[in-house]
Amino acid sequence: MTEQTQTPTSQYVLECRDVSRTFMIGRGPFTEKRPLRAVQDISLQVRRGEVLAVVGESGCGKTTLAKMLLGLLEPTAGDILYEGVPISSVDRRDVARRIQPVFQDPYSSLNPRKTLAQIISLPLDVHKIGTPAERKARVEEIMELVGLPRRLLYSYPSQLSGGQRQRVAIARALAMKPEILVCDEPTSALDVSVQAQILNLLQELRDELNLTYVFISHNLAVVEHMSTRVAVMYLGRLIEFGMADQVFDHPRHPYTQALLDSVLTPEPQYSLPNIAMGRGFPNPLNPPSGCAFHPRCPHATELCQWAQPQPLAADGGTVECHLHSDPDAMAKSPRINEQKASAA
Ligand SMILES: Nc1ncnc2c1ncn2[C@@H]1O[C@H](COP(=O)(O)OP(=O)(O)O)[C@@H](O)[C@H]1O
Ligand SMILES: [Mg+2]
Repeated sequence: MTEQTQTPTSQYVLECRDVSRTFMIGRGPFTEKRPLRAVQDISLQVRRGEVLAVVGESGCGKTTLAKMLLGLLEPTAGDILYEGVPISSVDRRDVARRIQPVFQDPYSSLNPRKTLAQIISLPLDVHKIGTPAERKARVEEIMELVGLPRRLLYSYPSQLSGGQRQRVAIARALAMKPEILVCDEPTSALDVSVQAQILNLLQELRDELNLTYVFISHNLAVVEHMSTRVAVMYLGRLIEFGMADQVFDHPRHPYTQALLDSVLTPEPQYSLPNIAMGRGFPNPLNPPSGCAFHPRCPHATELCQWAQPQPLAADGGTVECHLHSDPDAMAKSPRINEQKASAA
């Protein structure tokens, strides 16, 4: 906190303050709309040059958070700050230049009718940067940077492999010399062998270009070696946030522990939660009361059934679990998932 007061504007390059995003869901004009809380009360900070990994199962709100960090989606509550300034008050083109996305699916995110040269130079064309010759030189430079041979300059996406397409998406993101890349599952659609190549490329680019990454994945194994800090989401909430070493070596939240256990299964690409957690991911339209993780948690007590745990600050991060914030009450409260506890 003291650091923050010393340099209030530049300590964090990106910051979420109590950010929530609710979608109103309803089938037709006569059915009542219901709120789906995709992201709830998330507070986290991204420091310049670091890799913030955001992990959690499919549907927990990662993409919604990414879109808000990119300035593409407005929070329904709370603020997203870029260098201490609300992102909504920064010029849209400026945000688009500084913070670039790399999405999961390089098939749907690339225009099939454009050549690589056209795709990569599009941001430069839109922002009217340089002469046509300078743009062409820049495109060739970036292609080399991302490991795409020059002979592919006039190829179309359909002529490329999945890995090459993701390189094109990365090249396009880099065209404007951004500061931050928000990578949303950038390797999830690729074969395992290709995944490693793209991860290596992203790491090299970060070192070479001094980039900051927000790196989203449902698979902890993917982010383990590259992350500086880790944010673990569950049903829209940030349940654990901390330094990568801390989170990987001494996870505090039972959900993080379970995710890490599942990484150790023989097929890491299916980093599904351990069966010891029992039932699957709950319905976000009808979330469990209290701590949303309680039906799957081997440590849950009656307290967890009715009381929402509050984030507890710990070692520069946070954890949102009664085991940590209310240890005495937890010790006294009857356990509710005994079978899971013995299976775990
Ligand atoms: N535009 C939208 N309209 C309605 N619901 C949405 C929309 N975008 C996401 N959701 C819902 O919000 C929740 C979180 O989605 P998402 O952020 O895509 O999660 P993740 O990326 O972790 O899989 C899901 O239940 C999803 O169905
Ligand atoms: Mg997603």
